Amino acid sequence: MQAHSLRLNAFGLDNVALTPTEVAAPGPHEVLVELRAASLNYRDLMVVLGHYNPKMELPRTIGSDAAGTVTAVGSAVTRFKPGDRVASLFFQDWLDGPFTPTTGKSALGGPIDGAFTTARLFSEDGLIHIPTYLTDEQAATLPCAALTAWNALVEKGNLHAGQTVLVLGTGGVSLFALQIAKLHGARVIVTSSSDEKLQRARALGADDTINYRTTPAWDKAVKDLTSGLGADHVVEVGGANTCPLSASAAAFNGHIHVIGVLSGTDGPGIDPRQALVKALNIHGIYVGSRAMFARMNAAFIVGKTQPVIDRVFPLTDARAAFEHVQTGSHFGKIVLSLR
Ligand SMILES: NC(=O)c1ccc[n+]([C@@H]2O[C@H](COP(=O)([O-])OP(=O)(O)OC[C@H]3O[C@@H](n4cnc5c(N)ncnc54)[C@H](OP(=O)(O)O)[C@@H]3O)[C@@H](O)[C@H]2O)c1
Repeated sequence: MQAHSLRLNAFGLDNVALTPTEVAAPGPHEVLVELRAASLNYRDLMVVLGHYNPKMELPRTIGSDAAGTVTAVGSAVTRFKPGDRVASLFFQDWLDGPFTPTTGKSALGGPIDGAFTTARLFSEDGLIHIPTYLTDEQAATLPCAALTAWNALVEKGNLHAGQTVLVLGTGGVSLFALQIAKLHGARVIVTSSSDEKLQRARALGADDTINYRTTPAWDKAVKDLTSGLGADHVVEVGGANTCPLSASAAAFNGHIHVIGVLSGTDGPGIDPRQALVKALNIHGIYVGSRAMFARMNAAFIVGKTQPVIDRVFPLTDARAAFEHVQTGSHFGKIVLSLR
């Protein structure tokens, strides 16, 4: 069958083209999925601009995550049948256990072709059933952003009720972190550059909010809000230039989940003296495994968690969707409709 795929022919937004591609019939262990929705991640923008891996092989179908419906399965497939609603795994080969040196080689829309396509073959291992209460657009937000927040707070961080979670910004990963933290009975402090976004974060359950533009010493504000103790978890999406304040805002024995680089990769980073004096736990987080995804889905089903979607763009308008990510004006996830 023929699909339409967003192909990156050379680095730069001008070089992303919707291209007809042939999809073969599934081999014995493969599953054919008609993808209905995909979501954009900051990573996808970095991939397109050549900032993620300047040596990436091109052309490449881009896209970190998507959801859709199984339309055909290979003769040896046992996990899926036609009609099943599924999402892709960001790391096609990370099923369970620890991250390994080869896990990264199976990431969609980087080392291998990605998910911004109307149909794709997957190994049956590289898919997961999606919670039935979610739309395709909502489900397409789970594989990268939601799972990263889940891995950080729950799998690595062992979050529990009564702890304080500091969430930087109101992008995709951060709003899932807010929702997951509330699901676990934690207190959540959200920072943002926008008062209007902070109000929306409160409507989602944030207990306290700080505008990091008007309060540049937001680490002190976090300590003031926590009787001087600081946050037990920091969802660190800012990178080298926010890390010093994140370490300062963290409680003794707190967890810093190192996830993103929104403020850049060149900067002061975490002062080792701060880390050791406060006995901080610093976790490098890289999305998550299929087993983690399954545990997250189970929690979302109980909590009826509703992913926050900022806007849905048609696939033909992918450039506008990328430009919207670039503005940073979004609240939550930006989605591509692949129908
Ligand atoms: N390690 C992993 O596995 C993994 C997985 C997913 C994402 N990431 C990384 O995590 C980061 C966030 O990804 P995303 O997809 O959630 O991005 P996103 O949705 O594009 O988030 C952008 C938002 O981040 C906030 N922000 C920007 N600069 C900031 C700063 N200096 N301090 C605090 N907040 C800032 C802004 O929120 P306000 O407008 O509210 O200020 C902005 O709207 C990216 O660096 C991405 O590459 C890593």
